[in-house]
Amino acid sequence: MLHLVQHPLITHKLTQIRKKDTGTKDFREALDEIAGLMAYEISRDLPLREVEIETPIAECTTHEMAKNIVLVPILRAGLGMVDGITNLIPTAKVGHVGMYRDHESLEPQEYYAKLPLCITDAVVMVLDPMLATGGSASATITYLKEQGATLIRLVCIVGAPEGVKRIEEAHPDVDIYLSALDDKLNEKGYIVPGLGDAGDRLFGTR
Ligand code: PRP
Ligand code: URA
Repeated sequence: MLHLVQHPLITHKLTQIRKKDTGTKDFREALDEIAGLMAYEISRDLPLREVEIETPIAECTTHEMAKNIVLVPILRAGLGMVDGITNLIPTAKVGHVGMYRDHESLEPQEYYAKLPLCITDAVVMVLDPMLATGGSASATITYLKEQGATLIRLVCIVGAPEGVKRIEEAHPDVDIYLSALDDKLNEKGYIVPGLGDAGDRLFGTR
């Protein structure tokens, strides 16, 4: 299911990172802030468990988070979302999956993976600012399922309808969170209007 996470502050910051003249520093800061603003929504329905505690005044029954949270940024650009989310969920563990798109075929190529041990029973949040063809996210989710993950959410900032469709077809059990659903992909597989190459803009590599 697709969840559009919209808020005036997110829209404003998204406009900043879409502008072609926004430099690395401002791009990095705004991307992180958008991820931080999305953290509240993507954690809204996390499971809780009952606990008995003692306040300074009395014993009481209350609740705490029932599951570990594992963030899995897709390298490189997903790294730009980690700090914003761990500001709100500081106990989250972080796994890494390295994927890049082959420029000709647009198919994802995996080059790195390192995951925490607890993913089987955790809520796993896959992070990537861009959901274009959906190839990178779909391959990452398939890999995480092979490693035993069962509760997976995909958290992106800008998406194209093509990518949403691909994830919905390949992984109907995975909720997708986006701040903006853009118009389409161009002939090179870039999101239109999008924001360009997120990894390059985040790390200043082009
Ligand atoms: C970008 C982006 C996604 C992917 C999206 O990464 O960060 O991972 O493309 O495209 P898709 O939905 O069509 O797979 P890229 O391959 O440019 O690698 P990078 O982050 O190392 O620059
Ligand atoms: N990857 C990006 O970084 N941007 C796009 O528009 C598509 C894929």
